[in-house]
Amino acid sequence: MSDLIPPAQIEAAATAVRQQTSQRPQIGLVLGSGLSQLADAIENPDIIPYENIPHWPVSTVYGHSGRLVIGQLEGQTVLVQQGRAHYYEGYSPAQIIMPVRVMRRLGIQTVIVTNAAGGINPDFSPGDLMLIKDHLYLPGIAGHNPLRGANDESIGPRFPDMTFPYDPALRALARQAAADEGFDLQEGVYAYVAGPSFETPAELRFLRIIGADAVGMSTAPTVVAARHAGIRALGISSITNKADPDPKPDTVVTHEEVLETGQIVIPRLTALLRGVLRQL
Ligand code: HPA
Repeated sequence: MSDLIPPAQIEAAATAVRQQTSQRPQIGLVLGSGLSQLADAIENPDIIPYENIPHWPVSTVYGHSGRLVIGQLEGQTVLVQQGRAHYYEGYSPAQIIMPVRVMRRLGIQTVIVTNAAGGINPDFSPGDLMLIKDHLYLPGIAGHNPLRGANDESIGPRFPDMTFPYDPALRALARQAAADEGFDLQEGVYAYVAGPSFETPAELRFLRIIGADAVGMSTAPTVVAARHAGIRALGISSITNKADPDPKPDTVVTHEEVLETGQIVIPRLTALLRGVLRQL
């Protein structure tokens, strides 16, 4: 059994968005935990609470607000998804990708996804930004792929290519933007886990062995659905905590720490996004 979102519901949501803004965004920006404030940079914002969009999945997590902010940034018309629904909240993979399906209906061709992530790579520190070059979609390869079920050929192929899930040209723009701003940008592989429990040391050791640099509970479903639909994707992780396979006796990972570190990176992340948008 799959629980695909019926096309009529996607259409109804897209229509509701169109009725509540006259702006026509071409870029989607998804904001992760602690990163909501990034939307403050949007000029001439039209704000649409998720409650005003039929069938839209609403996040229940503290630190995630629930609204779309549509407006201008660096001369581009951007649709900001301020708050996202996660698998661990009880949403199905199909529900999680509903927003990107709606973005497609709105004509969006590029999506920039941000998230909070634990740093597995020992060279990473909290406060670093990591450009995502690839992902390990652990629930996805184990069967919880959001594209499971009947394929809608009008959106994309049954077996979509994932050779370059994170667009190489957009990644080059992000590297250039970081260089122009004069800050370091890490680059690495993002491991998507279902959560909500943070990882055990053994799980982190496993993730490190299989090539993960950072770990988090979002992003991969959105990017798979975007690529399926021919939308270009860029992903940036805010490294909010060390995900340490060899913890010290006082090591603890908390959601509060994740949110606090998110605050610290907002100025740099905003500058990075502005730099990317300026070059588009
Ligand atoms: N693990 C999983 N998800 C996360 C983490 C983490 O350490 N930090 C922020 N999101």
